[in-house]
Amino acid sequence: MPIDRTLILIKPDAVSRGLIGEITSRIERRGYIVSAMKLVQLDGERARAHYAEHKGKPFFADLVAFITSAPLVAMAVEGEGAIAGCRQIIGATNPLDAAPGSIRADLAQTIGRNLVHGSDGAASAKRELDLFFEDKDFVSRRHDLERWIKE
Ligand code: RTP
Ligand code: MG
Repeated sequence: MPIDRTLILIKPDAVSRGLIGEITSRIERRGYIVSAMKLVQLDGERARAHYAEHKGKPFFADLVAFITSAPLVAMAVEGEGAIAGCRQIIGATNPLDAAPGSIRADLAQTIGRNLVHGSDGAASAKRELDLFFEDKDFVSRRHDLERWIKE
């Protein structure tokens, strides 16, 4: 069974708006499994490392200021095709381009307050998960996953 593991961040805007449950629920209802989870406020160093690919872009300073401004929820999510599947649930970066039914289309207005982060590929998922979690933070939920997946 090829299982992806991805990093989801429920960003400070979503935590502040009381959307932890709504966002987690959409991911769980797809059948993906939360295998590690924590509420944390990032410092600048970890924020810049997380968004390193965007260093030098005009929005980078605002992005780091926003993501460090208040607590966020970090979670590791697992499932078959979970990296791409979570990106689908989240929707396009700009909520105006996001597919109806996605989190960003349904619940967000602007690109700078788009509620959720999801890793965009296998390499970034591994790199980003390592910034938030250690091996001991993960629990195995293989039996729960097997309810959803036919090999
Ligand atoms: P994320 O990393 O947060 O999941 O979002 P994403 O993959 O959909 O978008 P990405 O290109 O990685 O951009 C990261 C975050 O930077 C902000 N952004 N602002 N003003 C702009 O043109 C602009 N472009 C990106 C967004 O908040 C985006 O989520
Ligand atoms: Mg991204």
